This record gives sequence, C-alpha cells and structure tokens, in this order.
Amino acid sequence: MEQQKKRETWHSSLGFILAAAGSAVGLGNIWRFPYITGEHGGGAFVLIYLICVALIGLPVMLCEIALGRHTRRNPVGAFKQLNPATCNLAVLFGVGLIFCGVMMLIMRSFGWGILFTLIGALVTKYRWTVVGVMGVVAGFVILSFYAVVAGWTVGYIGKAISGRLAFDTVDAAAVSFGSFIGNPFLSILCLFVFMALCIAIVCKGVQGGIEKISKLLMPLLFLLLILLIIRGLTLPGAMAGVRYYLRPDFSVISGESILVAVGLAFFSLSLGMGAMITYGSYVSKEQNLFTSSMAIVGLDVLVAFLAGLAVFPAVFALGFAPDSGTGLAFMALPTVFNQMPLGILWAFVFFLLLLVAALTSGISLLEVVTAYWVDERDWTRRNATLVFGGCIFLLGTLCAVSVENWDSIRPVQSLLQTLFARLQPSLFATMETASDWMLALGGLMTALFVGWIWGIRHAVDEIRHGSQNFADVHLWSVLAGLKDDPSHNSEVHVYTIASVWGVFVRFICPVAVVIAFLYTIGWLDLGEDASPEPPPEPAAELAPP
Ligand code: PFF
Repeated sequence: MEQQKKRETWHSSLGFILAAAGSAVGLGNIWRFPYITGEHGGGAFVLIYLICVALIGLPVMLCEIALGRHTRRNPVGAFKQLNPATCNLAVLFGVGLIFCGVMMLIMRSFGWGILFTLIGALVTKYRWTVVGVMGVVAGFVILSFYAVVAGWTVGYIGKAISGRLAFDTVDAAAVSFGSFIGNPFLSILCLFVFMALCIAIVCKGVQGGIEKISKLLMPLLFLLLILLIIRGLTLPGAMAGVRYYLRPDFSVISGESILVAVGLAFFSLSLGMGAMITYGSYVSKEQNLFTSSMAIVGLDVLVAFLAGLAVFPAVFALGFAPDSGTGLAFMALPTVFNQMPLGILWAFVFFLLLLVAALTSGISLLEVVTAYWVDERDWTRRNATLVFGGCIFLLGTLCAVSVENWDSIRPVQSLLQTLFARLQPSLFATMETASDWMLALGGLMTALFVGWIWGIRHAVDEIRHGSQNFADVHLWSVLAGLKDDPSHNSEVHVYTIASVWGVFVRFICPVAVVIAFLYTIGWLDLGEDASPEPPPEPAAELAPP
C-alpha cells in the first residue's frame, strides 16, 4: 500500500504515449526494418509485418501495460504480486526444465545443463516471478549491445561534424567503419557517452527525466525523418527506390519471412521483457489503455515505414545497392550523402535521428533494471541507475571490443567455450542471439500468464478503467458508430473488443509465438529454398558485416 502512494506517474497521457513510443521506436525501426523489408519482398513484407503487429504485437502490448498498471510494479514485482500460491503448470514446466538440464549434464553439455537445471529449480520455487526476472536480465543484456551500436551513432555524428564522412565509394566507407569499430578507445568512449546520457535521464525520474526528454525528442525524430524523406524523394531517380521498397513481390515471401516479421515485431515494439510493464506501472487509472496501445503501436509502425521511405529513394537515386544489409546505415548511407549537395548536413541529420531513436529506447531498457532495484530492493533511483548503468557499461565494453571476433577477450571465450562448446562468432553476436531468445520466450510467457493464470477477466477489469468501449460495448456497435444507442448495447455481449482480445491472448498469440520461437532457436526449418534468394541470417541484423 505504502509503495503505491509514493509511486511516480506520468504527467499526462500524451507523455506516456510518447515515452512508450520512444521505447518502441529505435534502431530496430530505422536500421533493421528498411533493409529486412527490402530483402523480404518489399511491400509484401510490409503487409505481413502489419498483420503480425496487429494480431500479435497489439494484444501482447495491452497485456504488458495492463499488468504494469494493475500491479504498479516493475516486471519482477508484477509477476510476484499476481503469482498464484500454487500452479501446476509452473511446477510441470520447472520439473521438465530440471529433467532436460540433468540429461544435458549426463551428456556432458555442462553450460546448458547448469542453465536449464538452475532455471528449472527457480521456476519450481518461484513460479511465474521468474518471467519478470528474465525481463530484467534481458534489459541488462540488450542494453549492453544496443548501447554499443548507439555509441557508433555518437561517433558518426562527430565524424559528420568534423567532415570525415566524405567517402567516394562504399569500400572506402567500409574501411573507415572497420577501423572505427576496431578502435577500442573510440568505441568505448562513444559507448560511455551514450550510457552517460541514458543514466543522466533515468536518474531524473519518470516525469522529470524520461517523459520530459521523450516529449522533446519524439517530435524532433519526426522532424528529422521528414527532412530526410523530402531530401531523398526530391533526388532524380528516387522513384526506383520507392518501387523497390513498396512493390509487393509475393514470390519472395516464404514461411520464414512471416516468422522474421513476428520476431521483428517483438523487438521493435519493445515487447517480451517487461519494458511496457514498467512504463505501464506509471500510468494513471483514468488513462485509456486500449487507445494508448493502439497509438504506441501506430507510431512505431509509422516510423518504421517512414524510415524505409527515407532510406531507399536516396540509395537508389545515387545508384547504390539496396541490399547492403547491416552496413546500409554506416557504410552505404554516408557514401550516398557525400554525393548530395550539403552532404555533411544530411549525414549529420541521419545520425542524429539514429541517436535520438536509440536514446529513447536505451532509457526504457535502463528503466526496467532501475525500477526493479528501486521497487524490490529499496535502492534510491540515483544509486540504482548509477550502479547498474555502470555495470551495463562494463558489459558493453566487452561487447564493443568483440564486435567482430573474440580475439581481444580470449579468457571469456575460453570460459564460455568450456561451458557451451559452440559459440557465436563474437560476444556481441552472442548477446544479440540471447536477446532474441529472451524476447520470444518472455512474450510467450506474458501472453500465457495473462490468458491463463491472471485471467482475461481480471485483465479486462483493469483495462475497463478509462476504457469502457473496450469491455462493455458491443464490437459491431463501436465499429458502426452506434455505441451510444442504448438498444445496441444490451447487458450481455459476446462480441466486445475485450472478448476478441481474450481469444488472441489465450490462443492465437501463444501459438504464433511458439512457432516463431522455434524458428528463432533454429528448431524449425521452413526450407530456405522457398524463396529464390535466401535472405541472410535474421539474428545478425544488428551485427556489423
Ligand atoms: N524497440 C527498440 C528498437 O526497435 O530499437 C529496441 C528495444 C527497446 C527492445 C526496449 C526492447 C526494449 F525493452
């Protein structure tokens, strides 16, 4: 009770929507989305992505925000508060994990064996609270590699200002990028600057820090994006890029594209790790959670879509290959800008845009970790942010020096190799893959928890505050504009928005996420040759080439 009294809240509904949209809009939208779309059939992929966002992303977003507002806690506290005293499903799941762990130990797969046994024991003892713990750990892991890439944008802003981005060819840009990320001093310095910004904002609290900066940065982000789009579209030959980006080519779409779209939707909407639970915990009872979720999802999709419009026309107009994948932002685009009049200005605008997007996402990741230590461990916000922001920085430095390979951190590699035998090519790639797993698993568990454990009824009771239409008005009456006509709103309704949402949360989302999850961990092979040109590894999107 006492905890509820002193909890901060957002100053306004708009503040919450902008902060949550700021969390969602990030490197995932401006960097990942455009080129993944290009590789997976352009317009056809955009359509599939939109369907995934509407059918899976939006329902899970509402689950997270409702969980947060109801419990007014961080992810660990939220699951702890609603954890049932006994739960056969959790025990079954925990024992299953322990069994798998022991089998792995017997088969001498020590790392996985220890991990599975440990998680199994925790699930058996603490049940659903473990999902919240996984969210906090995911915040830690994601920010440590996310901040490295965000740090590069800081470096590239510096390069743009000092006129050192004047590349005539993509090869020259690639050499420069390689030497930049291969310079430990520079990449750690940039990482430090980014983390210091995140820490300073989160330290200032929910209203004074996160909300204030989001209200300032989100409009700036739109402004920068629109400037870039106008510049790109007014170049001669830009329409070829628009066609490439938006022409629906269904022949390139495969089962894999659909699953890539599901994974991208989770990452891009910041779902599956409790960021929206945490932000939801600062929302007041009067706020309409349903329309807020739609606004957040809508803004995220809009920015992703606009980012494609900003990138492809310019790339095509200047005759560059659109499929340079992860290198698009740091190699192809600087070269493109260099050939435009006032190129330095456009490069500066673009990297500032990336930094703004990364910053509003970075603070949400740090806030998840901070909220846990403040709520559950009674730390002061300042101490929690400084200490754990500092720890994330330290882990980030290991990622920063091992972006391409393990060479500079051999002892860490040997330790991990002893435990897990097979490793990703770098610590950076390992963190990235780990986060893909965690988000998929976290999203699945959140949907299962809300759908089957907390219960749709309780969740709807929560969402009903501030949103009568959601639960109590007949769906067809709302859609037809007849909701205020009493004869269209009898006492008992079958088709409310809430009932449709419940079916999604209980059945459709979990099944879809399980399929996507199995694909992410490589247990589901949908036949790569379904598409004429196999697209590159989905897990490597944030990794440099
Ligand atoms: N949504 C962010 C992006 O698209 O870049 C990434 C992210 C932020 C993921 C916050 C998860 C999260 F909690």
